[in-house]
Amino acid sequence: MSDQITPVIGLIGGSGLYDIEGLEDRRWERVESPWGEASDELLFGTLAGVRCVFLPRHGRGHRVPPSELNYRANIDVMKRAGCTEILSLSAVGSLNGDLPPGTFVIVDQFIDRTFARKKSFFETGCVAHVSMAHPLCTRLGDALEEAARGIGLKHRRGGTYLVMEGPQFSTKAESELYRAWGCDVIGMTNMPEAKLAREAELCYATVAMVTDYDCWHPDHDHVTVDAVVKVLLENAGHAKDLVRAVVPALGRPRGPCPQGCDRALDAAIVTPPEK
Ligand code: ADE
Repeated sequence: MSDQITPVIGLIGGSGLYDIEGLEDRRWERVESPWGEASDELLFGTLAGVRCVFLPRHGRGHRVPPSELNYRANIDVMKRAGCTEILSLSAVGSLNGDLPPGTFVIVDQFIDRTFARKKSFFETGCVAHVSMAHPLCTRLGDALEEAARGIGLKHRRGGTYLVMEGPQFSTKAESELYRAWGCDVIGMTNMPEAKLAREAELCYATVAMVTDYDCWHPDHDHVTVDAVVKVLLENAGHAKDLVRAVVPALGRPRGPCPQGCDRALDAAIVTPPEK
């Protein structure tokens, strides 16, 4: 028996990404979840023959703020739609002078500073602790890096993404604190998304697209929505190029995830099964 799987690529688009043009056989469809309403319907389609499923994280029309997102429903509907991997495309501020606006960072670590969100699928009745030591899927990161290099995208492999609660931007003291912690980028949405993807045994990678220097940089104005949106539109075009470049590579039949993302619950559940 072969344990090859045919991947289905999930794409979660952040601010500025509300559609994937060029997707063939496309249809928007609502997927129900016991966790409540997802941000929007899912867009199903194929790219170069590879099945893809797209979710605009904030909904079309950018209606749902970061703290109000139903992260559990969003991940659950992607899983129910058959996704085996998720590429998260997210706008971020830069905390690192070497990562100017326009840079795409293939993140490899997170610091989760969010505090007002439901963070687990496991509630009273079943206790589970998945490992988050390596929160991003290296296999997906490798593919993204190769695709970014192939299309000549300004990118950086590796970096720590600090996830803040928001919706207000950081104070200067906070921004400087996160820099002192060695964080590279800051955003409001990838946690608990990455934790829930791990609990759902989905491979997950983040492409953090830098729009601004937050508020720490002596030579740049502090971040405003206007400034973010301006860069966002350029980044969105490049994000779509990256998706078109990486999906054919990721869509090839493959074996189990070498890192074990797809088996994350094997060693995580504490509660014994009911007899
Ligand atoms: N998203 C884009 N820029 C950001 C910033 N500076 N802080 C938090 N989230 C952001």
